[in-house]
Amino acid sequence: MSVTIIIGSQWGDEGKGKIVDLLSADVDVVARYQGGANAGHTIAWGDTEVVLHLVPSGIFNKDVTCVIGNGVVIDPVAVLEEIKTIRSLGYEVEGRLLMSHNAHLIMPYHKKIEEARERARDAGAIGTTGRGIGPAYTDKYARTGIRLVDLLDRDVLRKKLKESIDEKNAILSSIYGAEKLDVEAMIDEYVEFDKLIDPYVTDTSAYLNNALKAGKRVLAEGAQGSLLDIDFGTYPFVTSSHPTAGGACTGLGIPPTRVDRVVGIVKAYSTRVGNGPFPTELDDADGETLRKVGHEFGATTGRPRRCGWLDLMALNYTSMINGFTDLAITKLDVMTGMPVVKACVGYELDGKRLDRFPNDITTLEKVVPIYESFDGWTEDPREARAFEDLPSAARKYLTFVSNFMEVPICIVSTGPKRDQTLSSMGTPMVA
Ligand code: GDP
Ligand code: IMO
Ligand code: MG
Repeated sequence: MSVTIIIGSQWGDEGKGKIVDLLSADVDVVARYQGGANAGHTIAWGDTEVVLHLVPSGIFNKDVTCVIGNGVVIDPVAVLEEIKTIRSLGYEVEGRLLMSHNAHLIMPYHKKIEEARERARDAGAIGTTGRGIGPAYTDKYARTGIRLVDLLDRDVLRKKLKESIDEKNAILSSIYGAEKLDVEAMIDEYVEFDKLIDPYVTDTSAYLNNALKAGKRVLAEGAQGSLLDIDFGTYPFVTSSHPTAGGACTGLGIPPTRVDRVVGIVKAYSTRVGNGPFPTELDDADGETLRKVGHEFGATTGRPRRCGWLDLMALNYTSMINGFTDLAITKLDVMTGMPVVKACVGYELDGKRLDRFPNDITTLEKVVPIYESFDGWTEDPREARAFEDLPSAARKYLTFVSNFMEVPICIVSTGPKRDQTLSSMGTPMVA
């Protein structure tokens, strides 16, 4: 067994990119299993900061092969742009980046439909990233999608695109009153992608299983967060895929029996971008401090992230769904200087305490969080080189989180850069 799954345990932006980049130094393959260019995974070292949307966050470790799995929806324009950026930083991708022939494509009409649908929802809009994710997965499940492999056969692509665009134009003009798309122009644009994409396309499930058979170690990189899961998140304010652990197997074509670790990435507080319930949200000076100090602005859309206290009710729920074996706590440094730090340890509804996280939004919108308060700390945790060096108030907070969740902490991140990390994978620092 040698697959480790990296999962966002909250509403995304927990720092998955940083942790995947860090852990990829010890693996052979990093594989993205769901989502698309809605993700924004930030990696920082030295004076360089890069935000990746589709290419796995292992690409800056030269010995690592990166895989974009069948569960991902790929925007060819976005992925080619990203490859250009990576090359400009001195990293070769050909031979190191593989894309599943079964992955579905995001087309311009997916973004158009999403935009029209969000506009029509008005106040009930989901607040999506506008990357065409929902409509692309809709086509996949309606069995009308176009896959990467279709790009490689001009006749098949032409036929499928024609059928699809005719249908989408009917929807855009009759339901949303939006402008129709130019069928021929889009066909001309997309047939040109075949040569550019061809070197990367392969049967990635076969590749991964062969690699595992040969004893190689694989890191499966989730995008978004568990509370945005299409089934287990705060529906309908979710994304259209499965960021949770099961998604790694179906999104890569690897058996669950190969998985030995599931690492939950937990931001030391909570954030959410887009709409939907958020019980521990802070609309006060503390929320503003977290946003300002933590630079909580979307890596993909630049939108300000909503900020709040850590929600252990939600975390115990996502830990249950994912089966976390380890926790990586990120952004601890951001809370330095706050006089009091809080964590939600329960919910009350109509005066009664709930014993579990309700993922239906009508209930979740009404719950009142019950908080445990902790002393803050003023000493800079970025100076720490081991768990014992962290401010004692911070250690108390982390120990409480680990005990409440009954999951050991193996990584504590105290800054955006690689070396701002305390790591003891395999031997818990807080158990
Ligand atoms: P992801 O989507 O989960 O990969 O997370 P994002 O990259 O969208 O957002 C995390 C942000 O926090 C990025 O700007 C990171 O550079 C930054 N970051 C990650 N870990 C830490 C940390 O421990 N401390 C601080 N201050 N920033 C961090
Ligand atoms: P990473 O991988 C945070 C949110 C959107 C919106 C909802 C649906 O960087 O953690 P979508 O475009 O997916 O249909 O939008 O999900 N969302 C994210 N929030 N981080 C992300 O990715 C997100 N990807 C989507 O803001 O609320
Ligand atoms: Mg992000």
